[in-house]
Amino acid sequence: MSAEPLEIHLEEQDLGRSLRDDVRTGLTAEEKWLPPKWFYDARGSELFEEITRLPEYYPTRAERAVLAERAATIAELTGAKTLIELGSGSSEKTRLLLDAFTRRGGLGTFVPLDVSVSALRQSTAEIAVDYPGLRVRGIVGDFTRHLDRLPTGGRRLVLFLGGTIGNLLPAERAGFLAAMRAALEPGDWLLIGTDLVKDPAVVVPAYDDAAGVTAEFNRNVLRVVNRELGADFDPEGFAHVALWDPRREWIEMRLRARRPMRVRVLDLAVAFAEGEELRTEVSAKFRPEGIAAELGAARFAAHDFWTDPDGLFGVTLARAG
Ligand code: SAH
Ligand code: TRP
Repeated sequence: MSAEPLEIHLEEQDLGRSLRDDVRTGLTAEEKWLPPKWFYDARGSELFEEITRLPEYYPTRAERAVLAERAATIAELTGAKTLIELGSGSSEKTRLLLDAFTRRGGLGTFVPLDVSVSALRQSTAEIAVDYPGLRVRGIVGDFTRHLDRLPTGGRRLVLFLGGTIGNLLPAERAGFLAAMRAALEPGDWLLIGTDLVKDPAVVVPAYDDAAGVTAEFNRNVLRVVNRELGADFDPEGFAHVALWDPRREWIEMRLRARRPMRVRVLDLAVAFAEGEELRTEVSAKFRPEGIAAELGAARFAAHDFWTDPDGLFGVTLARAG
């Protein structure tokens, strides 16, 4: 079967407006910041795929190992009719679950949702070809805003992989989980991947690789702002910084001005002092008891918690209570 046309819940003008709002808020703040969803234009999505293949970037391999071992159990336990994936990207690891559901039977529809039109176009076309008989409905949307528009009816399993929940700030995370729970019926399932707290000597290189791919990915957000808003950032004028925050147990990605700069964007002239930093992303690392508590606060009951053999990455299967 071919994939259905993408459902667009995020129009160009809607995207433009929210980018302008975010840029204005973030670049006029005392401590400058930009939200992470703007990394993912076509080039950003490609760079992320390149990150997942880096020797230093363990999360993708570790999560894939968990899914490879548990996919059959997940298909059996949940008996899902509809598989929804938030921030689906290439959906490459998701194929392990699609394979297991294909063997078991009963899955009718796959619904990947992402802000990246290019990633969705490619993944839906390829999956529709490789899984004939599966209905593939891609949704261009924002998982922080559009959870009330997920398809209803039949037992649902929602995937949120890649540790992407860690890219939300704690208050956003609580809001996201509450909205997720409100979108589901009791008995529906959530499968959520979380990178785990570990030695910073392992974590930091995953966000600051030797080949400089993550640095390019980080600077890409400036290229997006230049192109979409006609700004004049010099991306090479900023150095990539990945810092472990031991108190909050997250990696913080920043762009540090190598020299004083003045950037024109919208009607603003934004001054950067030499060494001044712009925060672009956090990637929180989790402890098993913290994950269960956050899920519980949103009325999800943790059903299973699995890790890869090296204990690097956690995957939690939870049920809406
Ligand atoms: N799930 C994939 C990709 C993770 S990268 C994996 O595990 O490898 C994060 C993905 O989330 C990207 O594809 C990005 O485009 C998407 N994304 C980021 N913020 C988003 C948002 N607010 N709404 C929807 N998708 C988002
Ligand atoms: N969800 C991924 C993570 O937190 C996203 C990611 C990987 C990322 N590398 C990055 C985001 C570098 C910004 C910069 O691991």
